[in-house]
Amino acid sequence: MELTTNPENKQVGDLSFPARKVWLKTYGCQMNYHDSERILAHLSELNFTPTDDQNDADLLLFNTCAIRDLANQKFYSHLGETKKFKDVKIGVSGCIAQTDSKELLKKYKHLNFAFGTDAVDNVKEMVYRAYAGEDKFAVTSWDKTGDYSIETKITHGSPQAFVNIIKGCDKFCSYCIVPFTRGREKSRRLQEVVDDVTKLVQHSGIQEVTLLGQNVNSYGKDNGESLAQLITELEKISGLQLIRYTTSHPYDVSDELIAVHGTSKKLSNHLHLPIQSGSNTVLQRMLREYTVEHYLGLVEKLRKSNPNIVISSDIIAGFPNETQEEHQATLDLLKQARFDFIYSYAFSSRPGTKAARMNDILDDEVRGQRLRQIQAQQIEIQAEVRQEMVGKTYRVLVEEKTAFKNEEKWKARTNCNRIVHFQTSAGENLQWNWVDVKVVSATALSCQAEFITSYGRFLN
Ligand code: SAH
Ligand code: SF4
Ligand code: F3S
Repeated sequence: MELTTNPENKQVGDLSFPARKVWLKTYGCQMNYHDSERILAHLSELNFTPTDDQNDADLLLFNTCAIRDLANQKFYSHLGETKKFKDVKIGVSGCIAQTDSKELLKKYKHLNFAFGTDAVDNVKEMVYRAYAGEDKFAVTSWDKTGDYSIETKITHGSPQAFVNIIKGCDKFCSYCIVPFTRGREKSRRLQEVVDDVTKLVQHSGIQEVTLLGQNVNSYGKDNGESLAQLITELEKISGLQLIRYTTSHPYDVSDELIAVHGTSKKLSNHLHLPIQSGSNTVLQRMLREYTVEHYLGLVEKLRKSNPNIVISSDIIAGFPNETQEEHQATLDLLKQARFDFIYSYAFSSRPGTKAARMNDILDDEVRGQRLRQIQAQQIEIQAEVRQEMVGKTYRVLVEEKTAFKNEEKWKARTNCNRIVHFQTSAGENLQWNWVDVKVVSATALSCQAEFITSYGRFLN
């Protein structure tokens, strides 16, 4: 597509694009949030700027998530509410669009177009077609080209960037919709990622990068490359301070990667490593490909490799036919693993997955009760784990000012991904500064610190 730019209009093909506003609502995981950043970067080339106000928008987009039924329901009701808007174009992208585009277009008469997860980088074409008068179309084909050139054109407004390194998931855990909504695994080449991150550091002031993928530690398998190698190369980029990656599968945590957690100076001290259940029989039914013993062995090796490592996890409560003993095994596991935090969910049946076809005897009430027990157990452990922060000094990146219990405080993030709050007496703006703070109190859910010193926006 050729672009001719003038301040008022952009001429694209046969159409003229005056300045317009796009409202974009994102659901789901960091991958989806990053896809939304990509969508906005593409649309800026069609003269769209983002707005938070639906009433002000010319184009309404929903970037959807299908992981649990609740996420789906929220989106359906939001989409239903947009029927009242006239003279707007409405599009749906993301994981629900990937599998359900036809049904959505049929059911919601005011919806103009839909496109799947692999069509994000073709969003300009979609919007062009909508403004050219085409209606009710869907694009859900898998993209073979893998064009990531938009990564370095995203406007960040912060020193933190997400970079996609692998798409899709080949694991097919029995409960999960992601392999259907994101397709097969496909890694980017290592040198391409290194070049992108170098550009982001040198031209966009990025200091912290999060490498993204649904199964990020299986990165590189298709090309004889690996996440450990990628981290080792990224580490050499001068000016880059911090490297994070998410989300990992325990099956693909290699010894090489564990070693890098010990040797890397820039890799975050936080690892999110979802276990899902503390019962081997449930893990088997989930098709997770590891045992609790293997998982705990990994945790031990990781903690030996990097004694400062902080590990968090995901748990699913009430997997089909989970017995009381199997549930108890998860409660016991939490005590053993001592996670820094967990995301926990009641099992949600996803159409098309193996678990959805299981003859399940559990009901919502049992699932809810087990979920609450898991959360209560974790909060108890978390309070103890977080108490260990008190009296220690952390170098943190200040993200924003927030109202905390009616007081204005700075919210900052530690290298190990914990949030701390602190105040300063002077009125200086510390946003995106690196500062040292000393933790004075910590509970399971909040951490208060004292300001020590600021190093400004760039560390040497
Ligand atoms: N790729 C990541 C997880 C991505 S989905 C991994 O394998 O760990 C994020 C989390 O959502 C999962 O870890 C799981 O805990 C939860 N989840 C996925 N499908 C679910 C379902 N059907 N019901 C409840 N929780 C689910
Ligand atoms: Fe889903 Fe399993 Fe893939 Fe994670 S590894 S995205 S839980 S299928
Ligand atoms: Fe949801 Fe799709 Fe992410 S289902 S969790 S947005 S990969």
